[in-house]
Amino acid sequence: MSVDFQKAKAALTDLSGKTAIVTGGARGQGAVETELLATAGASVLICDVLEEEGQALEARLTADGLQAKFLKLDVTSEAGWAEAMDLVKDWTGRLDILVNNAGIINRKIIRDMSVDEWRKVLDVNATGAFIGTKLAAPLMAETGGGSIINISSNSGFSGHYDPAYTSSKWALRGLTRTAAMEFAEEGIRVNAICPGLIVTDLNRGSAHLGPMIGMTPMQRAGEADEVAQLVLFLASDGSGFITGEDFVVDGGFTAGSGYRRVAKETGIL
Ligand SMILES: NC(=O)c1ccc[n+]([C@@H]2O[C@H](COP(=O)([O-])OP(=O)(O)OC[C@H]3O[C@@H](n4cnc5c(N)ncnc54)[C@H](O)[C@@H]3O)[C@@H](O)[C@H]2O)c1
Repeated sequence: MSVDFQKAKAALTDLSGKTAIVTGGARGQGAVETELLATAGASVLICDVLEEEGQALEARLTADGLQAKFLKLDVTSEAGWAEAMDLVKDWTGRLDILVNNAGIINRKIIRDMSVDEWRKVLDVNATGAFIGTKLAAPLMAETGGGSIINISSNSGFSGHYDPAYTSSKWALRGLTRTAAMEFAEEGIRVNAICPGLIVTDLNRGSAHLGPMIGMTPMQRAGEADEVAQLVLFLASDGSGFITGEDFVVDGGFTAGSGYRRVAKETGIL
């Protein structure tokens, strides 16, 4: 069997004819993901609570000849999600890619956090992705399948100091695997990306940035496009047999940063 490089390259980078929804797409990592998917040829619906930023991104991308629309969506609203599905049906008649990227953080520890504060984080980060998955899957199935990508976190692999956020990111990994099982036969793949530290408005100025970088084996924060490139891969036909997986993008943090520190402190490394 000979390798057809042009075919492989197209499978990895050409999303023309496909439609995507990116939640939390108005800024930060979601905006970079939106721009990359649109540049690869997808029509992208940017969904966010941030109207000004979302409209500005739509204007910038469409001025560059790309296909993008903004919809004000709070991912905790089932009616809002139904509106998003109606919009893509009217716009392109199909949905191929859903990136559940919207997320919030509350850094209070358990003893200081109210039940309402806990619920708010779980609602946006986990329930938002659940509703999106529930409403997107039937539409994806109509055209033979699609790809759902949940933006979890490397805190979805360990105990952390923000309990609601960490629990929501573990929940996303569970949702990813169960949804992958439920929708596999309809051609819908579901995967999770678990980034480490990426400096965005979510964490800019936080005291933990320096220590986190110090603990990261690669000794730096990640860049939003290093996550977006994996989103593109998982959205593309090039990842056609990958489902139910977690992909950690964290410069080696999850791989063993604690043992690495021990090795450093004892002179082994
Ligand atoms: N920055 C990091 O270090 C890091 C690490 C791991 C995972 N993540 C995850 O990456 C994703 C993107 O975060 P980011 O770093 O770009 O931060 P960000 O704060 O810049 O982006 C989050 C986006 O989600 C939107 N959003 C918040 N609540 C919403 C709601 N109810 N409905 C719709 N949109 C809503 C915000 O308006 C914002 O545009 C999040 O899920 C976050 O948890 C971030």
